[in-house]
Amino acid sequence: MCGIIGIVGSTDVTDRLVDGLKRLEYRGYDSSGIAVLDKGVLKRERAEGKIKALEAKLKETPLDGSIGIAHTRWATHGVPNENNAHPHFAGRVGVVHNGIIENFLEIRKKLGGKRTFTTQTDTEVIAHLVDLALDSGLSPIEAFKTSLKELHGAYALGLIINDNPGYIFAARAGSPLALGIGETEMYLGSDATALAQLSQKLVYLEEGDWAVITKDNYDIFDKDDKPVERPITIISGGPAMAEKGNYRHFMLKEIYEQPETIGRTLSNYISDFHRETNIPEGIDFKNLDRVIIVACGTAYYAGAVAKYWFEQIGGISVEVDIASEFRYRKPVLSQNSLFIAVSQSGETADTLAALRYCKASGLKTAALVNVMTSTMAREADIALPINAGPEIGVASTKAFTSQLTALAALALAAGRSRNTLSRDGEIRLSRSLIETPRLVTQTLELDSIIEAFAFDFSKAKSAFYLGRGPYVPLAFEGALKLKEISYIHAEGYAAGELKHGPIALIEDGTPVIVIAPYDNLYEKTISNMQEVSARGARILLITDAAGAKISEELADDLIIVPTCDGFVAPIIIAIVVQLLAYHTAVHLGTDVDQPRNLAKSVTVE
Ligand code: G6P
Repeated sequence: MCGIIGIVGSTDVTDRLVDGLKRLEYRGYDSSGIAVLDKGVLKRERAEGKIKALEAKLKETPLDGSIGIAHTRWATHGVPNENNAHPHFAGRVGVVHNGIIENFLEIRKKLGGKRTFTTQTDTEVIAHLVDLALDSGLSPIEAFKTSLKELHGAYALGLIINDNPGYIFAARAGSPLALGIGETEMYLGSDATALAQLSQKLVYLEEGDWAVITKDNYDIFDKDDKPVERPITIISGGPAMAEKGNYRHFMLKEIYEQPETIGRTLSNYISDFHRETNIPEGIDFKNLDRVIIVACGTAYYAGAVAKYWFEQIGGISVEVDIASEFRYRKPVLSQNSLFIAVSQSGETADTLAALRYCKASGLKTAALVNVMTSTMAREADIALPINAGPEIGVASTKAFTSQLTALAALALAAGRSRNTLSRDGEIRLSRSLIETPRLVTQTLELDSIIEAFAFDFSKAKSAFYLGRGPYVPLAFEGALKLKEISYIHAEGYAAGELKHGPIALIEDGTPVIVIAPYDNLYEKTISNMQEVSARGARILLITDAAGAKISEELADDLIIVPTCDGFVAPIIIAIVVQLLAYHTAVHLGTDVDQPRNLAKSVTVE
């Protein structure tokens, strides 16, 4: 949430800062800005909206300078306009910030008599604190260091000072920040993606660290201001900026990549030859009494599906929680639990906080992530990759199916370790998982049928998604996908729960998407479907050939997915709800890859 980049360069930095911002745009796209020191003088340009608006302004009024900081914003405090866009200036100081300064009102009050605040942001107080400290005669380093002590909350900062052209100051508490080492330059960025074109040699700041960066050196200090060395990480190959290719949107490209990305996930967790799962080193499923899965958004729904798998196949009790709720309810934790954080980015603030909470409580922790250089991957006892490759569309698609795939394989590993799954059972279920890329390819062939349905669907004001068992989280995920990119109000429900209230909302023509491949709960779901149909709902039934044979005539529209083992059906159904949301949003003309008000990486609570 919010992206930061900084360069202490030997040549003009503006174009490279803008390039870095484009890579960071997934973290927020409400507004952006850039500040440089031009012969020691602070100058800036800011713009409301996407980076291209800033680029256009920079074409009109170019900025030159060999030191600069830049920012792309996801608004927390203050509306997203140019005035609230970073960098924020106060006197000699310019600052970019990711996070939330929780005591900013207190600081504002304290400085009220001495300072005038010109924005609604929490960030502006940082620039004022440092500038005031400089006024009091402190050196730039001392001014920066003492000001940090006044801040409560989460921050990743980049700060430059007028007349002090050799330095960028940086600090990290609660929000990720890395330094990039160049031959004749140094860099600062929110993550490896931001720095990809600049450096492959990264140094991740740790909690409470702050740093002074010059063109050819950097010094890092810990929270007690002691000089520290942090390890250098070499990023292999450099995460290339994903390209859309011939696809209209990244989201569509990522939906279509799924046969390949699921295959990549599988290769890590299943041995094709032996038809068995690889039990990740460090996980002793046999002696666990509980698995705790914590995540946000789409990743949470992946965890919710996995609960069914771990319980039914691994015979192990699973608790799934929303990360923003987990630690505040003071959960009762047993030492024999395995904590699994599920996160595409590996940076989501609440999920990371839950991981740290469990680690501090002595639990074994694992992080199932797409970004292996992320904070969660580095801090968890066990980092579990999903290998889905860079996901650019804000609405998560391929990361979701890869999370499901990895969790399904882990459930098989649990079943084997705990003797709740026979060898034959393991062979059958591993085979089904290995078949998934092929089944996903077949499901993608339904694209034009789904697109045709989406045309009418896009006229709806509200929609419902229903399912039972593992299809309940799929109903939630389907509704979430639709809401986030098409802005149509949608709710997912357990099919049996609808009659306890929400059915009152069904009117003539209300679209209801029913997810019901043929299984032991099929008939019950179909009864629930008839309850809403009797009240005028327009039914889209997502089922398989066996289900369609029975209920074809009861549904207004039908999508028949390839026949497969019920174990992997949630992965297949995911493709359908993704395509449905995508085509609906395209009909409505929304910004599919960067929907309003959202960000891909949410690094504030
Ligand atoms: C944001 C994104 C969602 C994502 C959620 C969790 O809200 O827009 O697509 O599911 O964060 O992100 P994570 O990186 O932890 O999976």
